Amino acid sequence: MAFPDGTADFRSDTVSRPTAEMRAAMAAAEVGDDVYGEDPTVEALEREAAAAVGKEAALFVPSGTMGNQIAVHLQSRRGTEVVCNDWAHVRNHERAAASWLSGVAFRSVPGEGGVVAPEQVTAAAAQAGYHLPEVSLLVWENTHNVSGGAVVPREAMAAGTAAARAAGIPVHLDGARLFNAAAASGTAAEAFAAEADTVMFCLSKGLGAPVGSMLCGTGALVAEAREVRKRLGGGMRQSGVLAAAGRLALAGRARLAEDHAVAARLAAALEDRLPGAVAAAPETNMVLVEGSALPGGAEAFRAALAAEGVLVGYIRPGVLRFCTHHDVDGADAGRVAAVAARLG
Ligand SMILES: Cc1ncc(COP(=O)(O)O)c(C=O)c1O
Repeated sequence: MAFPDGTADFRSDTVSRPTAEMRAAMAAAEVGDDVYGEDPTVEALEREAAAAVGKEAALFVPSGTMGNQIAVHLQSRRGTEVVCNDWAHVRNHERAAASWLSGVAFRSVPGEGGVVAPEQVTAAAAQAGYHLPEVSLLVWENTHNVSGGAVVPREAMAAGTAAARAAGIPVHLDGARLFNAAAASGTAAEAFAAEADTVMFCLSKGLGAPVGSMLCGTGALVAEAREVRKRLGGGMRQSGVLAAAGRLALAGRARLAEDHAVAARLAAALEDRLPGAVAAAPETNMVLVEGSALPGGAEAFRAALAAEGVLVGYIRPGVLRFCTHHDVDGADAGRVAAVAARLG
């Protein structure tokens, strides 16, 4: 359902707002000072998050960016390169934090749907020499945002990760939308996570919590991550008020399938009214629309939607991304279709 003012916001799943149930849980949360290790609600969330991805331990961090950057910081080495897909968030959308904080560059490689092929990992690792740097980390992103929420199949991850492990390179998974990948593919989140040493997932995207992400891994690594989080100013105090919403978000992850159904319905309606506009059938909660296939282009469609109280953003120049979440539904998809019908 749209926001109370009638706006249907498809710009991102990050715009989803805490449910009434979350707000009640936040108000009632038992809290303590988490920097002293005394917040029972944060501790419960950390236990539940670790279990959800089959890792030993987890750390509550303020954002996905901080979770990714702590993982890079702990597992890469200054003066080396991190292998990832060309369009990885960690490379493109985190204000070059990895170079700024950890002194690494990216060896980004082309690949459909966020895939990094084992040969690409092996070749990058083998290149180190007098001029060329070593590779110290492989990063996956699943689902892959810029590819429209594509699921990187577990087999593809396993192949790339095996190549990394053979070369002695650790692996991080940016699983900002890991549970979308799990819901869409039927592959358990733990199975994807098993292909990485550390996993970050976001509570604040499709899961609907107002704030927060989890960084998961071995107990030893998470203990180190806690120190880095403190250094970055991410030690939070009575953060149980946030963790309370996060626990409900995580427990409700089966709901993500509903967002996928709305995305599929939206894609079908758009394809019907604007043939050729939908870049590919959505796998999860995103629908990409090619501006070049629209009468009048992307901006005319975006503006026509905005005039009707429907918001959408760009995933890259000329390509619109409609992202579904618990604050948009089938009726809102119908509003998009009605505007598309006028344009088509
Ligand atoms: C794939 C991916 N990774 C990481 C992040 C970073 O999350 P945050 O906005 O919480 O820093 C995002 C945010 O949109 C994302 O899409």
